[in-house]
Parts: sequence; structure tokens; C-alpha cells
Amino acid sequence: MKLFVSEGNPHCLKVLAALEVTGVQCGVEYINHEEKVVPFLSRPTLPVLLLPNGQHLFSSNAICRYLFESNGQESSELCNQWLEWEATVLQPALLQALHMAVLQGKGSEVIQVLKGPLNVLDQNLSKGITPYLTGESVSLADVVLWAALYPVLSDSSLASGEQKSVKTWFDRVAAMHSCQSAAQKVLQGKGLQAMKSFMQRQPAPQSSQCRDSQPCNSNPAESEEGERFVSEEEMEAAYLTWRKSLNTCSPAMDTQNPILPQEGKRNILVTSALPYVNNVPHLGNIIGCVLSADVFSRYGRLRAWNLLFVCGTDEYGTATENKAREEGLTPQQICDKYHAVHSSIYKWFQISFDFFGRTTTNKQTEIAQDIFWRLHKNGYLVEDTVEQLRCENCQRFLADRFVEGTCPHCSYPEARGDQCDKCGRLINAVELREPQCKVCRQTPVIRSSKHLFLDLPKLETQLEQWLEKSTSTGDWTANAKQITRSWLRDGLKPRCITRDLHWGTPVPHPDFKEKVFYVWFDAPIGYLSITANYTDEWEKWWKNPHQVELYNFMAKDNVPFHSVVFPCSLLGAQDNYTLVNHLVATEYLNYEDTKFSKSRGVGVFGDMAKDTGIPSDVWRFYLLYVRPEGQDSAFSWADMALKNNSELLNNLGNFINRAGMFVTKFFEGCVPAMELQQEDKKLLAVVGWELQQYIQLMDKVKIRDALKHILNISRHGNQYIQINEPWKKIKGGDSERQRAGTVTGVSVNIACLLSVMLLPYMPAVSQTIRDQLNAPQSCIYTMLQGTGTFACALNPGHRIGNVSPLFQKLEADQIEALKKRFGGQQTTLQSAASTQPAAVPAPTVGVDGMTVVGVDPEKAKQLTKAVAEQGDKVRALKAQKAEKDVIAAEVSKLLDLKKQLALAEGKNPEPAAQKGKKK
Ligand code: MF3
Ligand code: ZN
Repeated sequence: MKLFVSEGNPHCLKVLAALEVTGVQCGVEYINHEEKVVPFLSRPTLPVLLLPNGQHLFSSNAICRYLFESNGQESSELCNQWLEWEATVLQPALLQALHMAVLQGKGSEVIQVLKGPLNVLDQNLSKGITPYLTGESVSLADVVLWAALYPVLSDSSLASGEQKSVKTWFDRVAAMHSCQSAAQKVLQGKGLQAMKSFMQRQPAPQSSQCRDSQPCNSNPAESEEGERFVSEEEMEAAYLTWRKSLNTCSPAMDTQNPILPQEGKRNILVTSALPYVNNVPHLGNIIGCVLSADVFSRYGRLRAWNLLFVCGTDEYGTATENKAREEGLTPQQICDKYHAVHSSIYKWFQISFDFFGRTTTNKQTEIAQDIFWRLHKNGYLVEDTVEQLRCENCQRFLADRFVEGTCPHCSYPEARGDQCDKCGRLINAVELREPQCKVCRQTPVIRSSKHLFLDLPKLETQLEQWLEKSTSTGDWTANAKQITRSWLRDGLKPRCITRDLHWGTPVPHPDFKEKVFYVWFDAPIGYLSITANYTDEWEKWWKNPHQVELYNFMAKDNVPFHSVVFPCSLLGAQDNYTLVNHLVATEYLNYEDTKFSKSRGVGVFGDMAKDTGIPSDVWRFYLLYVRPEGQDSAFSWADMALKNNSELLNNLGNFINRAGMFVTKFFEGCVPAMELQQEDKKLLAVVGWELQQYIQLMDKVKIRDALKHILNISRHGNQYIQINEPWKKIKGGDSERQRAGTVTGVSVNIACLLSVMLLPYMPAVSQTIRDQLNAPQSCIYTMLQGTGTFACALNPGHRIGNVSPLFQKLEADQIEALKKRFGGQQTTLQSAASTQPAAVPAPTVGVDGMTVVGVDPEKAKQLTKAVAEQGDKVRALKAQKAEKDVIAAEVSKLLDLKKQLALAEGKNPEPAAQKGKKK
């Protein structure tokens, strides 16, 4: 790796500072402003980072980002926002300021030019509670902004002294030796004068205003592009690609069944964490695992990887036993019921599993017991005695959360067996004073019981060796690496893998006959057994680390089980297992400004999404748009409406629809002849570049970031149409008409490309677009090969199909109604309110939200029934002396149903009972 820089170039200050701060190993070469490092750029640019693979990075912020990432520091969303602001707002102002100060000697006006951006920075710093821009320590954002501002702020004659917080922050960063040293290298202690020769080579800045009157806070990917310089070479290359007819290269997709690894192919095994069977998944669960894994799997198939995507329900354990008790069913019945619920939810969300199985199968027993015996034989299991609470009345050992008692630390009377909610301390269940069985309220006794432990300390070295390799060669998200590191740092302890329960895979050892495996030992083995239920040749996937690459998708709370515990089981079992190569963990998705909560009825759960009348593809789009990638994020109704209306309707849908309509209206449905001019070729280059970004990001599982590049393409497309006005030109003379034809032809081909890029995200819309364009199916297998091919797929003369709008507007009142409905205590699965057809009309322009809450006799009838049923349920639970929380949740559902009933009957929805209720 090599970094090329020049003295006196302020952009080089950024990258040198980033290099020194991160300490990444990299050679530095000082060259002259004039030297050309990147062969295909027509103008010399610096700084440039030459990557180990021979590629060049030549945007200073991209280089800084790369250096931080090489150092394991992924940038947060907030950090990205600052970088974007730096590039789009601060830089133009700075350039102007430096131009004035260095070349025109108008130092006194600098303050005026920079005032706006500096105030923004100051406000943000002064309201923040952290010393740095994005947190407690220096981040990429601090280094980039500090270096950008250094020439101005370090010059006492220019600084105004007005922005106190900026000053404090600037000095704090400047105190770092690495920053000082970078500044010294670039400016040589000569201050602004050092930049003179550089500034003389810069085009004179126009103004510090935002370009194109675009709002300054537009999103990052959006604004980056406007500035990118497209060279002649790039345009010609893009044009050559475009002219390669697509039809010549359509590999027949062999649909093998079952899908098995093949020699010479990229064999990719994708899993998403197996969802617990005892719950209905909420949107956070869906985006965290199955939806993310689905997008990646669909993408991989487009890349012609040989890919298998498996998942299934995680069915064993206390939680299932408990749920069974609650619903008066057997554990198996609960599993059957909820397995079906999960399946149908994922079907609605169009999750393209190759197989969706479950963990309560014979294969699971067989494989789990085999792994167990291997661990036993290899000496990785140790025996120990554990003290546990047992309820003689219920005849069972009590899992920690089934015991309640007085906290030994603070005497809080309702402490749980694992933690006290009052003082927050962790508790060992046997230490509780006056313990009670939560189910029957009897006093449990302490019993000692023999258990088996997986000897993690003995496997630690092997694990570390393997982790070292996997995390350095594979794509592990930053959180996955960090969580794993912290587990190892604290040292591994033996982990108990047996439990005194009934509902689980039986431990085959004769000394432990009554026991089952602990769910977290058992569940990941589910990946193997589910594959075994898909094909007898499952070992070709799971005992084939040389041919297979394994991707595990999950939310971050699952990380240690997938990076430490399960790999140790497999390493200890010594049977050449395939271990995880890429561990992709999301952060959490919140609901509005709170958490999803089943018991409080807050949030949208998988089974409710379809009742909103909003199409599955739009749900997918929005969830992926806010995917908690790198940082927690939030689902918000208002934002969903905004993104639907701005990005899908006005941007993407509008572009595709216009392109198709022009073909239909002006060219009788046939793609017109095209004579490409420079401007068109430039667009091809720009689109091709976005396509490459998309592919690079998707290859690295940056699903959310990649989506932005799709939207960039349609934004470019809209601009192109707007500038060229084919609807006017079509009425002009021959050459004008021909121009209209070219613009239409290029646009409709971009629409075709968009349909392919969209496929992983919005499979139905993607297909609809190709149907409307009557596009050859082959294009979906060719456009995403290699670094991406934007070729002309719809040639002149091609007849397209019927074009119609792809998206519908989400109205404010409609969204308000949904927000109310899902804000809390809404009904769940079993109740009438959610099983009846959408209470909200399908989104059409001008929907009257009032119809949602109006008098509705049919709904009232259903609700009367639901209220009666829910009343029965509450009474039954009270009779069974069920857990307080459980009863409370059901009572609140009942109250909510009554309220809805009142509304449906046109009565006052606030009964007195509602008032005193705790929120
Ligand atoms: N059921 C667990 C959860 O929902 C995930 C299990 S993943 C597995 O958090 F790999 F262990 F199956
Ligand atoms: Zn009991």
C-alpha cells in the first residue's frame, strides 16, 4: 500500500493525519502537484492511495475512511453525516476562504465566508456531551474536519474567536502528537503561504452556496456524485460496455436440486439466526436476520454464486415449555403452531429460503448427539456439580427467570433469579432470600445436580488461531469483531451444556439420562440438521471448509454464540466442519423512539405488516433503508411515508415510469434508435460507476449503503430527462426527434438495469418492471457479473409491455392512523382486529384517514367477539395464577379491544377503567 501526497495540499493534510492517528502501515511518497499517479484520470489528483489490489483511491475522505477501517474502526452513521457535511458544505466554503486568504490577500473576509459552517459545527459541539464529534474518543470525523479546518483555524489572523466550542474541540484534537506531525509535514510551519502553489492550480471557486440549490443536508451518497469528475477515458469505456450486446453472454442458469457445492464455483452457505418459535417476530427481528440474509442471498444468486440459504425455527428450551403452559398446549403443539406462523410471515416478506426447517427433528438429535460424543471422546467435556432451585410441587428445576424472591443485596422483594430490577445487581438464584416458584408460588429447595461443561479454556488457543484467520480474511462486521474480542479478553470459562428440562434434545450419556442439551449448545447445530433435512448430502456443505464459504446473519446479541461457543463445539468435535467465514451482525432497530415490546404491544410485528395495506416490497425497502448497519436505527412511520413518497414515488418510480411512458407514447411502444453523444456517454459512465459501488458494497454485505446507489442512478436519470426534455423535442424537427429517441432509449435501458439492481431488495417490483419493459430474463444474470455490466439490454426495435405506476403515495392521515394503531396495546395474532382485512384502505391518493376510526357495524361485531374471547382468556389466566406481567399484558389488550369496539360503535372510547391504569 502506498500513499502519494504533495506539500501544501490541504487535502493531503487530512490523509496524513488519518495515517498517523490510525498507525496503519503504509509507505508515503511526496511528489509534485503536477504528477499523475492514477493512469486513467485525465487530470493529476492528489492525494492518492494505491491499494494492495492495484486499485487507486483518490478522494481524500475515502482514503481517510479506508485507513480507519483498516484499523478496525468502522464509521458510525453520525460520522458519515459529518463527512458528508464536510464534503458538501464545509469544503466549498473553505475553498473560497482559502482562495481569498492565500491568493487575494482578503483575509478579513474569511470569517464571513466560514461563519455559517462554523456556527453549525459550534452548535453541534456545544450541545453535545462528548468531547469529540461522535463520542468519547477521536473518530474519523474529528480527524477529517480538524485537518480541513487546520489551515484556517491555526492562523490567528483569521480566527474570529466567536465559536468557543469549536475552538475547544480544535485544540483538543490538535493536542494529539499525530495531528501536529501531519500538519508540520504538509505546511512545513509556513502556514497559509505553504499552500500558495497549490491554490494557484485550483479553479476559482464560484460561491460557498450549495450546488444546484440542493439542501445541504441531503444524504451522503446523493451528494457525493454531483462532484465526481468523469474523464474521457471513463466515458469511452462505459460506451464500449454499453455496445456489447447482452444477449451474447447469457449463461444458462442450471437450477440444481438439491443445491450442492460444485468444484470451481463460489459455494456460499448462508444462514440467518434461527428465530425462537415461541414468539411472533417483530420488524427488528426480521431486518436483523432473515431479511438481511435474503437480500444477500438473492444478490449472490444474481452474481451466479452457487448459494444455499437455510433457516428454521429454534424450538427447544424453557421458553417454549412456558409458552405451552400459558396457552394450554403441549410444547410440540406450540412449535407446530408458531412454526407455521413464522413460515407465513416470511413468505409474506418474500424471504427466499432454499429450505426453512426446524430444530425438533430426528436429524437434530442424531447430529447433536454425534457432536456431543465426539467432544466427549476428545476430552473437551468436564463434569461439575451445580446447586439449583427445584420446585417439588411442579416437579422441575427452575430456570433463573422462574424464581422470584428477595434481593440479597438491597432487599427488594421482587428480584428475579438472575437479576434484581431495583439495584440492578446480578444474582445467583440460590442466593435469593425467600425464593418462590413463579408458577405455583411454592418455596423451591436447593438441590445439587451434576452437569456437563464444554471446556472452553482448553479450546481457546485453537479458537484464537482460527478467529485470527477468519476475521482477517472474511467480512465480519465491526460489532461482531469487537464483541468477540471482548469475550476473549475476559478469558473463557467452561460453559454448562446440559439442563434439567424435558423439552430438548436428550443427552445420550447414561449418567445424564434425565437431562437435555442447553438450547445454546443445541440451536446452532440446527443449521446442520436443517440442512440434513434438506439433503442427505448435507456434509458436502458442513464438512467442507475448503470449498464452502459460510455467512452467518444475526442481531448482535447472538454474536458470542456464533463466534465463540459454537465454533468451539465444532473445533472440539474434530470432524472437518465448515466454520463461519463472514459473521454479519446488525445493531438494534428501535420502534419510533422506544423499543419494540410484545408485552406492551408496542411496534409492528411480522403478522401485522400485511394488515397495513402497505405492500411487502415497500416494507422491505424501508426496513433495508434504515437497516441498523453499524449503528442502532429506528423505524418511524413518518419517515417511512417520507421515504416512500420521496425516494420510491418521486425518484425511482417516477423515473422508471417516465422512461417507459415515453417509449409508449412517443415511439409506439418500441425502443427508438439511439445516437449517443458525449452527454449520454457521460451518463453511462456515471451509472456504471454507481453500479460498481453497488457491487463493491453488496459483496461486503453493506446492504443499506448499496441501496443508496440504486437511488442515485434514478436521480441521475431524472435529471437527464429533465435537462433533455424529450416531451418537447419529440415535437421538433428530425434531429430534435432523434435526440428525444436517444434520451428515451438510454433512459429505458437504465430502468432495466435498475430492475436488476433492485431485485434483492424489492423482488416483486423488480419483476414488475421487467414485465412492463418486456425485458429478456437473461439480463438479470449478466448485469451483475464481474464488476458490473451496464450494457444496452433493450435494443432499438424492442417492444415493451404495458407501463403503469409502480408506487403509491402514503398520505399523512393514513400514517397517523397507523401510528396510533401500532403505538401500544394493539391486538395480536389471535384477535379479530388484526385478522380482518386491512383496517386502513389500500394507499390511494387522497385517502380520508377518518374512515379508519369511523362507525363500522361489521367491525363492531367482530370486536364484540374478540372482546368476549379476550375476557375469557384473562379470566383463565387469573384462575391459573399466571405471571403478573402476562396477565397485565392480556388485560391491556382487552382494554384496547374494548376501546376499539367503542370507536366502532361510535361511543366514547375512554372508559373510566382506562384512566388509573399504569402506562
Ligand atoms: N433463537 C435465537 C434467537 O432468536 C437464535 C438462535 S441462532 C442459532 O436469538 F444459531 F443458535 F440457532
Ligand atoms: Zn412451583
